[in-house]
Amino acid sequence: DSTTDVDVSAIEPGQSIKAIFRKQPLFVKRLTPAEIAEANATPLSDLRDAESLADRTRPGHEDILVTMGVCTHLGCVPLGAAEGENKGEYDGYFCPCHGSHYDVAGRIRKGPAPTNLEVPEYEFISDTVIAVG
Ligand code: FES
Repeated sequence: DSTTDVDVSAIEPGQSIKAIFRKQPLFVKRLTPAEIAEANATPLSDLRDAESLADRTRPGHEDILVTMGVCTHLGCVPLGAAEGENKGEYDGYFCPCHGSHYDVAGRIRKGPAPTNLEVPEYEFISDTVIAVG
């Protein structure tokens, strides 16, 4: 399997970009300090699929969230990665197909999706570039 390199240096805090990984949408977001605080303030007991932000990011890079852009309900592409799109009630991503709301860490908070947006295998190969896959 091939990997996909993504340069994250140009992603501003609060901004997401879309890339393609194995023919599927991939979201890469740089969280603001407020979003990191919001994610860390959420008790794991409030979560359907209990994962912390640290569980979903890489050490030293907690501001970079890498997820598949594929709703875990029936596979639609959630909104929220592009400027001005609906981020849903939890400030992350919103799947309009059946109304799943994901939070700033891509965790399912409301709606029919059973699990968080998938974090693919990836690693930082420099301070600014990740290799996905
Ligand atoms: Fe996203 Fe159903 S496919 S809510």
